[in-house]
Amino acid sequence: MSHSADLLVIDRLSAVYNHAIAALHDVSLVVRRGEVRAILGANGAGKTTTLKAVSNLLTADRGQITQGTITFDGLDVAKTKPSDLVRAGLVPVLEGRHVFKSLTVEENLVAGGIGRGSSRREIASDLERVFTLFPSLTRKRRIMAGLASGGEQQMVAVGRALMGRPRLLVLDEPSMGLAPIVVQSIFDTLRKLNREEGLTILLAEQNAAVALRYASSATVLENGTSVLQGTAEELRTRADVREFYLGSTVARGQVGAVANPSDAGAVIAAE
Ligand SMILES: Nc1ncnc2c1ncn2[C@@H]1O[C@H](COP(=O)(O)OP(=O)(O)OP(=O)(O)O)[C@@H](O)[C@H]1O
Ligand SMILES: [Mg+2]
Repeated sequence: MSHSADLLVIDRLSAVYNHAIAALHDVSLVVRRGEVRAILGANGAGKTTTLKAVSNLLTADRGQITQGTITFDGLDVAKTKPSDLVRAGLVPVLEGRHVFKSLTVEENLVAGGIGRGSSRREIASDLERVFTLFPSLTRKRRIMAGLASGGEQQMVAVGRALMGRPRLLVLDEPSMGLAPIVVQSIFDTLRKLNREEGLTILLAEQNAAVALRYASSATVLENGTSVLQGTAEELRTRADVREFYLGSTVARGQVGAVANPSDAGAVIAAE
């Protein structure tokens, strides 16, 4: 295990799908121990691809890294099986909010502990901890996860990851499709885990307003390239970011539909 301040280092990463479709080009970013880093960007910017590469799950989608390296706590991610990454503490919540729909909420959570190789005693205490963090799941512990609400399923997905005792929690669009109050509750819990337990978090969000409220730093992707990085505060105050990612005139999800998207990139990259 390395003891550098950098927990995850993505260095000049390029990736393609099906040997042809370029998805990432020259993406570099660092996640420091104890921080919450957001990856922001419009539809198709490369957020999910980056997180899949970080979890070494690209090949399952016929994707491939063509250049660059990803290092997690001294481990070469591309040479480490996803299950071994989980055991090393890199735990992803990708693919929307994937839950095992025909298992109960509690069984879903237990699966996260088994995946890590936890003992029965560890699983029992981690389970109580997750129910303390997400009290609304307590009443639902015996129902099928597929019958839980969207917000509860997201809590189950995050809770299952926490059962893996992560050191780096990797989340793809935790806010997607959820009501603002549920989004706030989930992000408040993530903030608590970060502040009180020092959990490091890397999350992708189209919802830059929410992400920049909770993250300490962020990287903006455009067309598969990192065009801007900074502290959340810096990015919140930059007019260009406000206009393209937070602006009230540009509704969420329509950022990619700016009349000429390359202009947007030019403005952001120019300063
Ligand atoms: N399985 C796949 N096969 C081929 N191309 C893909 C695949 N997944 C993504 N892509 C392409 O790679 C690029 C990056 O997509 P990615 O899903 O990483 O973007 P994203 O930022 O997560 O977008 P969104 O906000 O819509 O989730 C896009 O051009 C997309 O069409
Ligand atoms: Mg995505």
